[in-house]
Amino acid sequence: MSELRPGMHLADLGVSWTQHPFLYNRFDLDRESIEKIRKLGLTRVWIDAGKGGAAPPPADAPAEDEHIAVAEEKLVAAEEEAAGTPGEITREARQVIRNLLEDARAGKAIEVKNVEEASSELAAALASDRNAMLALGRIRSRDGYTYQHSVNTGVLFMAFARHLQLPEAKVHLLGTAGMLHDIGKVFVPDHILTKPAKLTDEEYKRIQTHTVKGGELLRHTDGVNPIIVKIAEQHHERVDGTGYPCRLARKNLDLEVQISSIIDVYDALTAIRAYHKGRPPTEGLAMIMKNAGKAFDNKLTQLFIRCIGVYPPGSLVRLTGDRLAVVVEPREAHPHQPLVRVIYDLKRERELDRPYTVDLSAQTDQKVVRHEDPENWFIRPEHYLAEPRV
Ligand SMILES: [Fe+2]
Repeated sequence: MSELRPGMHLADLGVSWTQHPFLYNRFDLDRESIEKIRKLGLTRVWIDAGKGGAAPPPADAPAEDEHIAVAEEKLVAAEEEAAGTPGEITREARQVIRNLLEDARAGKAIEVKNVEEASSELAAALASDRNAMLALGRIRSRDGYTYQHSVNTGVLFMAFARHLQLPEAKVHLLGTAGMLHDIGKVFVPDHILTKPAKLTDEEYKRIQTHTVKGGELLRHTDGVNPIIVKIAEQHHERVDGTGYPCRLARKNLDLEVQISSIIDVYDALTAIRAYHKGRPPTEGLAMIMKNAGKAFDNKLTQLFIRCIGVYPPGSLVRLTGDRLAVVVEPREAHPHQPLVRVIYDLKRERELDRPYTVDLSAQTDQKVVRHEDPENWFIRPEHYLAEPRV
């Protein structure tokens, strides 16, 4: 990498275009682009020695930032065109919750019907493309954590309710409940919700009020099922009586409320945030498992892990044989051997030209070694979920 010079012609970065900030995969290098390539942390790139030699661009040449902006615009446009896709449905549901939270914050009456409609859309998408929905739901942009967390809590709730074979009407109801569970956060000042440093006791108490206030708001809203109110009020209660706001114990907590507490924590622990690293799902699950039989019901926790998989869809894993793979589909009977899409050769330090799909439960050659952080590899696992399966 230290041999890169302005004017050389870059032939390949060795990563897909979604993983670098440049508009093109091939271009003449200048000082800025060399600096950006170094920041990508790549260990090698491919230079076309037969080309290049061009003079460095003049000082008033368009900044690389403009290229980045164009590339980002293209990406957003391409994603927006894909109507009816899991990505689009997730985005729309997030917008519905975002609007609803804004209305609640402004003291306007909230329209729960819109949330029910979004919940139905999500339920249909989850039925037809469960893995992509679960993977996409984990990805959070910098903008507005609460509404993104709310939508994914709804999605996870529905996935788990179906896993438990609850009636479809209940599945939709719980989806709506998941999306509304944190509505009381609109009554907590943003600077407390987003405070990066440790909260003071006073601030923590203020955050805790979102349960009671959310419950009050929903109780006084037309057409809200009582279980939705309960979940908003009690999702921070714990079966061992250590939760808030009322330190209720198991006998006073409905099954749906007990489930909501597991899902709320799982989502918070495993979200992939654009602005800081989330914990790998395996770590999030391990933390929940540690509390199974204490804060969380043991049986429900085990069932949830069976539903979501030890390696949930969209996880990046390292396999034996120096390969990285994206988990496409967990195997319920073989939680450590999911169906994966093999995408990266660690020896050659580059993506495979032809990624392929392997059902690890059906063969013994390859095993998952461990979970990997996609950020360390500039890989966006969700992009590999829609690939054709074997
Ligand atoms: Fe909450």
